[in-house]
Amino acid sequence: MINETSIKATLANVIYPGFNRTIIDFDFVKEININKEILSIIIEIPSAEVTIKTQLEEEIINRVSLLTELKIEVIINQPKVQKETSSHGKNMLPNIRNFVMVSSGKGGVGKSTTTVNIAIALAQQGKRVGLLDADVYGPNIPRMMGIEGVQPVFLGKNIKPIMAHGIQVMSIGSLVERGASLIWKGAMVTQAIEQMLEDILWDKVDILLFDMPPGTGDAQLALAQSLPVAAGICVTTPQKVALDDTVRSMDMFQNLNIPIAGVVENMSGFICPESGKEYAIFGKGTTAPIVKNFNTQLLGEIPIEPAIREGGDNGQLISVVAPNCETAKRYQDIANKLWDFIVKVNQEGGVNNQSIQPTIF
Ligand SMILES: Nc1ncnc2c1ncn2[C@@H]1O[C@H](COP(=O)(O)OP(=O)(O)OP(=O)(O)O)[C@@H](O)[C@H]1O
Ligand SMILES: [Mg+2]
Repeated sequence: MINETSIKATLANVIYPGFNRTIIDFDFVKEININKEILSIIIEIPSAEVTIKTQLEEEIINRVSLLTELKIEVIINQPKVQKETSSHGKNMLPNIRNFVMVSSGKGGVGKSTTTVNIAIALAQQGKRVGLLDADVYGPNIPRMMGIEGVQPVFLGKNIKPIMAHGIQVMSIGSLVERGASLIWKGAMVTQAIEQMLEDILWDKVDILLFDMPPGTGDAQLALAQSLPVAAGICVTTPQKVALDDTVRSMDMFQNLNIPIAGVVENMSGFICPESGKEYAIFGKGTTAPIVKNFNTQLLGEIPIEPAIREGGDNGQLISVVAPNCETAKRYQDIANKLWDFIVKVNQEGGVNNQSIQPTIF
């Protein structure tokens, strides 16, 4: 006697064309109805291509007809949510709507801090948020999100993100031994990123933020080739030496065809809690010319604030513990601007990473 479980077990052998994961792994099977004469299987796939639909339909019918004499009807739809992203090209994670890369030219300017606080602000606004720590050389997200030492759950070769503050989080730090990645060379970084993208089981995500290693290297290229990244954010501190590197980071976004959502000026001034006097320790407002040159926007200025550093060190993020303070409001404002930018990118046709695919000789 067939039932939903036995049919799903059979469908777990149907590979989604062009990928090495099945339609069950991707959660594409939405409904299975069995009545006296007809067995109907309803699936949702991101692609509208007729050849993919035909190929899937044939394979499903071939496999399921081995289980039953019933007439088999396969209904293939496109999910409604897909309309909110219009990106195309190679996409290893078709069930995620939008990808955002947070980069900086220089190390230690506050990328990870900015990424986690924007992620929290987006989740507070009701978005389904994913956060992927792609910093192969120094993954900090587990500590900042308060999940250091928490072991993720494995399902076969796949791995479930860890939930923290309502956000699905995965870090390369949870997957590789501490220190092991420090000696990785280019191809290994690329492979690790691709492997990570293949193996993580994200559960419907509106916006997936990538916290990147500093600089412009293999990790950035591997991601941009694997996914259509809808927005790039550049984090910088105000001093000149940081700004020089920021220009390189912005150039990289342009070379990778990633639309630039804007710049976050971090550690932008310090307001003395005792006197209320403002000190421009690293300078302030210095990003304006870069913003103008790249025809983008200043997403926000975040001051130096001890609570930001403490929050990162002990997993008590300022946006969680003090959501109404001025700094948390600035992160919310950055999150709003980012979301508006992504909506605009999608309305204007989305992004396409076809032109940056590796050349095969
Ligand atoms: N606005 C801020 N006020 C106070 N401390 C901050 C601020 N932004 C970041 N920090 C602190 O500065 C340090 C570096 O920040 P963070 O780790 O986010 O930088 P990063 O750019 O991700 O570094 P890396 O390049 O190593 O990945 C951390 O200790 C963090 O808590
Ligand atoms: Mg970092």
